[in-house]
Amino acid sequence: MPLTSLREMMQHAQQNQYGIGYFEAWDTYSMEAVLETAQEEASPVILGFGGMMLDSAWLDGGVSLLGAIGSHYAHQSTVPVSLLLNEAQTLSQVVLGIEAGFNAVMLDTSAWEWEAAVRTVAELAQIAHARDVTVEAELGRLPDATATGIDDSTAHLTDPDLAEQFVALTGTDCLAVSIGNVHLLTAHYAPIDPLHLEKIHAKVSVPLVIHGGTSFPPDAIPHAVAHGVAKFNVGTTLKKAYLEGVQNALESSKNLSVHDLLGSHKPADLCEAGKQAMKERVRSLIRLYGSAGKAS
Ligand code: 13P
Repeated sequence: MPLTSLREMMQHAQQNQYGIGYFEAWDTYSMEAVLETAQEEASPVILGFGGMMLDSAWLDGGVSLLGAIGSHYAHQSTVPVSLLLNEAQTLSQVVLGIEAGFNAVMLDTSAWEWEAAVRTVAELAQIAHARDVTVEAELGRLPDATATGIDDSTAHLTDPDLAEQFVALTGTDCLAVSIGNVHLLTAHYAPIDPLHLEKIHAKVSVPLVIHGGTSFPPDAIPHAVAHGVAKFNVGTTLKKAYLEGVQNALESSKNLSVHDLLGSHKPADLCEAGKQAMKERVRSLIRLYGSAGKAS
């Protein structure tokens, strides 16, 4: 089916009180893991690739390839999907992404000065809306997990009044917020501040987005959905599940041909083992977000 507008998908999610997962892929196997699971669960889903972990110079050229891969899978889907270029690093990457077929885009301006962020996201919104592309922006800054703990030296919660102004000035269609959520954290759940989310929701009418889905506490999901959150971004836990799948399969693959092990798409393919493990992680999150069965 054709791509569905992320704006419309988020509206449906809010009307029906569920969250939509953006499960970040990095290649064809991981994108198949997301799409197949969403179809098996009859769930709307956001497919896409992210720029945060990519070499920025590679992304300048690679964004067209990512758009082509994502479009190929998205157009095969039997459930509503939108295709997101997440956390691009420059405006020109986003523009190239729109040309390459992404129908939702996010430029990560969370570390930018206010003026530059407002000006650039507003410019992006004009470009994107003319092509019916949904825009996500972020205000506030998440801490990152590190090997030894949480680095919150540059992090700050989203200010509800500034969030209201930012949405009005930029025309963004949804807003990613910092409410205690943490990027890349796997050791424990993040210390979410539900009251802070309520304060932002009271001021901001567009759907809210949670990044750092890996460590977002499952028991905080219903409250988040009830207070404006329509979309959860998930990354690290998917790569971990995939890698564990590959590692487990590697142990029992000693005498197999490298051609079967890598890229064969046969049962012995290590990447297929990774994909299967990732699918189970995606499935459990789709069910937690309440989007299973909502595809119709
Ligand atoms: P995690 O890797 O912490 O799940 O965060 C992913 C994310 O927010 C991508 O935008």
